[in-house]
Amino acid sequence: MTLFSLLIVTAGSLAIAGAKPLSQPPRQLSSATTPLIATGYGTVFDAPVTIGNQTFMLLVDTGSSDTYVMQTGFTCINSTSNLVILEEDCEYSQETYHKSKTYRKIANEMFGVEYGAGLASGSMVYEEVSIGGITVKSQKTAIANDSNPMGDGVNSGLLGLAYPSITSAHPANHTDNSTYWYDRLVYNPLLFTMYEEGLIDSYFSLALAHTPQNASVTLGGYMTVGGLPPVDHSSHFSTVPVEITEGIPLWYTSGKKTQSYWSTTVKNVKYGASSSDKLTTNSTSFQAFIDSGNYVSYLPNEIIEPINALFSPPATYDSASGVYIVDCSANAPEFGITLGDQTFYHDGSDLIYQTGDGYCYSALASSDEVSLGGITLNIIGVPFLKSVVAVFDFGKNEMRFAKKY
Ligand SMILES: *[C@@H]1O[C@H](CO)[C@@H](O)[C@H](O)[C@H]1NC(C)=O
Ligand SMILES: *[C@@H]1O[C@H](CO)[C@@H](O)[C@H](O)[C@H]1NC(C)=O
Ligand SMILES: *[C@@H]1O[C@H](CO)[C@@H](O)[C@H](O)[C@H]1NC(C)=O
Ligand SMILES: *[C@@H]1O[C@H](CO)[C@@H](O)[C@H](O)[C@H]1NC(C)=O
Ligand SMILES: *[C@@H]1O[C@H](CO)[C@@H](O)[C@H](O)[C@H]1NC(C)=O
Ligand SMILES: *[C@@H]1O[C@H](CO)[C@@H](O)[C@H](O)[C@H]1NC(C)=O
Ligand SMILES: *[C@@H]1O[C@H](CO)[C@@H](O)[C@H](O)[C@H]1NC(C)=O
Repeated sequence: MTLFSLLIVTAGSLAIAGAKPLSQPPRQLSSATTPLIATGYGTVFDAPVTIGNQTFMLLVDTGSSDTYVMQTGFTCINSTSNLVILEEDCEYSQETYHKSKTYRKIANEMFGVEYGAGLASGSMVYEEVSIGGITVKSQKTAIANDSNPMGDGVNSGLLGLAYPSITSAHPANHTDNSTYWYDRLVYNPLLFTMYEEGLIDSYFSLALAHTPQNASVTLGGYMTVGGLPPVDHSSHFSTVPVEITEGIPLWYTSGKKTQSYWSTTVKNVKYGASSSDKLTTNSTSFQAFIDSGNYVSYLPNEIIEPINALFSPPATYDSASGVYIVDCSANAPEFGITLGDQTFYHDGSDLIYQTGDGYCYSALASSDEVSLGGITLNIIGVPFLKSVVAVFDFGKNEMRFAKKY
């Protein structure tokens, strides 16, 4: 609240700009749209971001808050053996960061983050960062010189779009990489800075494309900062509050009860065989967060189990991978998630992914599979986002969803 109160006053004075002379010219809010590239058979979505004098593709992640780019000559580390492996085994793009004229290292800080997929660490710097021509001159940014394999062959890092409370700068002496959830030196992520500097309104939006099952790399839709993406959608938006994420301990957010992930409450879910008109409603509400960086939606086991059984032929659980294997040409069931006053149904084709070698798996798995350090959260990922225009408003602490046409 304190972070935004000043800015809300500024926006208010903009509205009366015509009525009263201002000592300073009103700031010009703009918006910018960038097309996305979908990789990994429609699982990962990357956007171009300029850092210093280079442009990189970065994974668009509403499930984390740091923006990092891999530094030229970084070390790639196998997450199982902890052995140093070849740089290309990390699968990032060969486009890596080298210092530009606008690079300024931040003394006494380091970057260290732990995702479900692995670790990355390095230094915290100030750099000039832009998206679609909207530029922050001096943005706190992470330059990683160490990572587990987390690339997709196209991206060079990640664009973190969640709240400041889960940023991952630490005191420089924080060298233990098993405790990156502690000891945070919280800072404003890129879009928060853009808002604070009066460059954009307080939101961004995503419209992920329905990607063909067999396209390994394809166009992936749009991200718009400070506006709505250029796709046809219903004018009816469901508005839901961004809630404080239950289930994460207080220390995870530096002892503060505050927004972290884009969490909200799912009112109910509806599902049924696509061959029948009859839907089952499970009216037990639950909290989940919206994560463009997860291509599987991880939901309560009691929900995904019956839905996976309704594929025709049924999807079957594979304990080695934790996902449900399904026939690539199976018929997917109906599956809708109710947020606010609308139920958003998935497109059946978005519920089946292929692995690249002829096998397919269901996009729905149990949240028990992604329990990390005793923390289990429900995650609504890419399959849902492909059917909606999703607006993430950190100024109003709300999300808005409309059906895509
Ligand atoms: C990482 O190490 C594991 C276990 O030693 C091994 O099976 C795997 O192939 C390695 N991966 C890479 C990319 O080197
Ligand atoms: C994490 O720390 C362990 C133990 O110090 C080390 O072997 C490993 O390489 C580190 N992993 C990464 C990704 O930095
Ligand atoms: C970026 O800036 C650095 C330092 O000034 C320079 O060496 C490099 O050639 C520039 N790279 C590009 C792509 O312009
Ligand atoms: C990576 O960056 C950190 C922080 O700046 C530094 O302490 C470390 O020596 C660097 N490691 C390598 C291998 O360059
Ligand atoms: C890092 O330094 C600070 C300040 O000197 C100290 O309080 C803290 O315990 C140190 N942390 C580690 C992990 O050594
Ligand atoms: C993907 O599938 C479509 C429809 O079945 C087909 O027309 C196209 O050739 C396939 N593309 C590839 C790369 O296999
Ligand atoms: C509905 O879902 C909840 C989890 O959100 C689960 O505990 C409950 O068993 C489900 N009810 C039915 C009837 O499937």
